Amino acid sequence: MLESFPSPANVLIIGASGGLGAGFCELLEAAPHVNLVRVARQKNDPKTAHICDICDETSVAGLAETLKNQPPFQLIINATGLLHDNLLEVAPEKSLNQINATSMAQVLQVNAIGPALICKYLQPLMATQGKAVMAHLSARVGSISDNQLGGWYSYRAAKAAQNMIVKTAALEVARRHPNRLVLGLHPGTVDTGLSAPFQSAVAAKKLFTPQQSAGYLLQVIDQAQASDSGHVLAFDGQTIPA
Ligand SMILES: NC(=O)c1ccc[n+]([C@@H]2O[C@H](COP(=O)([O-])OP(=O)(O)OC[C@H]3O[C@@H](n4cnc5c(N)ncnc54)[C@H](OP(=O)(O)O)[C@@H]3O)[C@@H](O)[C@H]2O)c1
Repeated sequence: MLESFPSPANVLIIGASGGLGAGFCELLEAAPHVNLVRVARQKNDPKTAHICDICDETSVAGLAETLKNQPPFQLIINATGLLHDNLLEVAPEKSLNQINATSMAQVLQVNAIGPALICKYLQPLMATQGKAVMAHLSARVGSISDNQLGGWYSYRAAKAAQNMIVKTAALEVARRHPNRLVLGLHPGTVDTGLSAPFQSAVAAKKLFTPQQSAGYLLQVIDQAQASDSGHVLAFDGQTIPA
């Protein structure tokens, strides 16, 4: 695992409390030559090393300040995201008249502005020698050219914006640090709280466990090269069109 990276690999998982975040942590914890640092919004798990609200710039800046004296990271995975939340009154829209400005802003904050802040503050903590990857969990529905069904205005728009941030950051970062890749990742449909209300239409064999999807994505990250930077790669290694 992570054989294309210098060893030992220092890995930061943001969103460690989520379904996919926990899946990544489980695999990486068991991997040799990996130093794993978990970040979550709350310290509910004793294994969480740092807390961070990615929507709060001061919080992301504070995380970077706390981490700056640690050895540089070979891999940073942002596994946060928001599709629905009853308390926040956020739900994917089926039609234009369901758009709510406050809910839409929250979805954009978590899925697009948060990743931009992570790029801004944590990219400087990536290794300058050897392969280094910052990966943000995206979604196929963020592809504009692949949108056949409509609906889900906020989430689609937020993931499309995230993909543009990933592409733009990849271009900027590569100018000074060609060893650093910035990727978007599509995990497939994964059995987590985020997908739970929408799983009925998914064939059982197409619904991945979090560990399964995390395993596929770690392979994709391992195989990724400089020419992949700025793209959204799916769990099967294919590039998702913009
Ligand atoms: N599951 C799927 O089928 C699927 C498909 C396509 C794409 N994705 C993408 O994959 C990523 C992970 O999804 P998941 O299925 O693992 O979802 P999940 O289980 O709902 O996890 C979401 C994570 O995001 C964290 N989070 C939300 N807002 C945050 C904030 N402001 N600051 C810090 N952390 C915050 C949550 O923290 P708390 O625990 O504190 O709430 C949680 O750790 C998302 O980007 C999602 O869009 C998932």
